[in-house]
Amino acid sequence: MTVPLTKLGGLEAIRIRYVDKTGKIYDIEANEGDTLMTVATSHLVPGIGGDCGGNCACGTCLVRLDQKSLNFLNAPATTERELLDFLGVSECNHRLGCQIALTRDLDGVTVNVAEAD
Ligand code: FES
Repeated sequence: MTVPLTKLGGLEAIRIRYVDKTGKIYDIEANEGDTLMTVATSHLVPGIGGDCGGNCACGTCLVRLDQKSLNFLNAPATTERELLDFLGVSECNHRLGCQIALTRDLDGVTVNVAEAD
């Protein structure tokens, strides 16, 4: 089934599917430039926080992405990598949601709520 895109401020929305730790699905439409953290927190997706306000300092926005989506992203910057290391995240498909700004390439992305090892 095809879901028509909603126009947000004249722009086509970017569709994001969040899956929380219980497997519950949250389909949300957002704007280009929003971060995975701000979209999740503004829609009360459980398990994604933004305690540091997106300053790459708390790790409460940890998410897991599929490889297809990761291919559209730059590698984590040093600060993000250091925090992921501090959290003990061993899998390379984990990212901090506050550091991922939405682009059209991410339309249809599935974002799994994650927790540190
Ligand atoms: S919101 Fe704090 S690290 Fe992402």
